[in-house]
Parts: sequence; structure tokens; C-alpha cells
Amino acid sequence: MTINFKDYIASVPDFPEPGIVFRDISPLMADGDAYRAATNEIAAYAQDKGVEMIIGPEARGFIVGCPVAYQMGVGFAPARKKGKLPRETVSASYDLEYGQATLYMHKDAVKPGQKVLVCDDLLATGGTIAATIELVEQLGGIVVGTAFLVELKDLHGREKIKDYDIFTLMEYEGA
Ligand code: PRP
Ligand code: MG
Repeated sequence: MTINFKDYIASVPDFPEPGIVFRDISPLMADGDAYRAATNEIAAYAQDKGVEMIIGPEARGFIVGCPVAYQMGVGFAPARKKGKLPRETVSASYDLEYGQATLYMHKDAVKPGQKVLVCDDLLATGGTIAATIELVEQLGGIVVGTAFLVELKDLHGREKIKDYDIFTLMEYEGA
């Protein structure tokens, strides 16, 4: 069965603010065939990269990264927001529209030299993924690929991670 993945994205105008079109992945997650097909597409992309570990940023990166890890038979570790991880962490900050955000990973989440695939639902400005990559590299991991369900081309996130391999299942330009 060929799936048109965009059929499973709800485009919501003026959310969270006027002029922004929110690309909601909920319908894709809610459909077992579409969710599994999306997972398999990412796993197929990563198949020959020698991936040993998958990392996804809280929260929607878990939705994408965990089933890919299961499918590939490798481990998953989260990059989390402040105050969530109980043991020693490393941190990396990125710019939001107003202010900054910080992500954290446990210091032993990635071993030096491990090959890592970083997964998230959405590539927008690239701030989240760049911070996640920075965390992996602080731990000595090697980012062999990045994978997203959706890329918002207008926000030029891929320029922020241009030194890395990028897979996106769907791309949107404009509204
Ligand atoms: C959203 C989305 C990506 C990020 C993309 O996460 O899930 O992680 O924004 O934007 P960027 O490329 O401009 O960084 P959000 O911070 O809203 O949090 P959530 O995943 O916890 O919902
Ligand atoms: Mg997110």
C-alpha cells in the first residue's frame, strides 16, 4: 500500500498565533498503518548507517524515535527539558522566539564513538535539533543522520545542520 503521508497531517491555521500554520502529526500517529509506514521509512533511511543508538528530544521526538529504535533493534535515549533527569547531565541551549531553552542528557546516554541517529517530528528553525546534536557530540557520539516527519522549508532549519545527513518524510513551503 502506498501512503500519502500528508493526508495524515492536520494543517491548523493561526495556531499557536496568527499567521502560523500548525502541522499536527496526531492523525498520523492515530492511524496504525500510517504510523508504522512512517517508522519504517525512517528505519529504511538509517538501515545502512550502522546506527547503534537513537536520540530524540522531548516530547515529540520520543513519538518518532522510540518506534524507530524498536524497529531497528537499537536503544533509545531522551534529550529532556529542565529538571527531568535524575543523574549527572550535560546540557545545550538554543534560542526561542523569546529567550532560550535548554535540553539535557544523562552523561552515560551515549558512549564515545557510538553512531547515533537523531529523530524528531519537525524541523523548523533547527534550534532543537542543533542542541540535541550538540549534546550527542559532547558525549563523544557520532551523529550519522537526522530524521524528521515534517520539514518547514521556510524556516531554513537545514542550514543550521548543514554538516549532517538529513531525512525528511514530508516538506511544506508556505501555508
Ligand atoms: C517542536 C517540535 C520540534 C521543534 C522544532 O517542539 O516538536 O522539536 O519544535 O522547532 P525548531 O526546529 O524551531 O527547534 P516543542 O519545543 O514545541 O516541544 P514538544 O516537542 O515538547 O511539543
Ligand atoms: Mg519538540
